[in-house]
Amino acid sequence: MRTTNLLLATGVIVAVVCAAATTTPGWKSSDDGPKIDELAEWALAEMKQGLRLISVLRCEEQDQGGPGIIYRIMLDAVNSTGGMGHFTTYVYEEAATKVRTLLYFGIAR
Ligand SMILES: *[C@@H]1O[C@H](CO)[C@@H](O)[C@H](O)[C@H]1NC(C)=O
Repeated sequence: MRTTNLLLATGVIVAVVCAAATTTPGWKSSDDGPKIDELAEWALAEMKQGLRLISVLRCEEQDQGGPGIIYRIMLDAVNSTGGMGHFTTYVYEEAATKVRTLLYFGIAR
């Protein structure tokens, strides 16, 4: 069941990323609150690269009308040697269980 959900969610991401050059219909801006900071910290911890959050730059979310919400978070983080970077991450959170899945994490260009 979880695998199926993940595959579905990943398929949605690919479609959204391809459409990103024009507009991103279906995404809405998230309130920048403790919840978003926590999701960002969680994603960094999942990466296990010793990255620490500096700040969340922007966050959007997409409710697919399904069992969960996908959050797209753009953030600044600092690594273990003090190098700062700009990253984008996609986190899926299942509404009922709050179980999170890291869909994507990468350097933002
Ligand atoms: C930290 O970031 C800097 C600047 O991006 C980079 O040159 C350095 O290799 C990174 N260090 C580690 C341990 O990832």
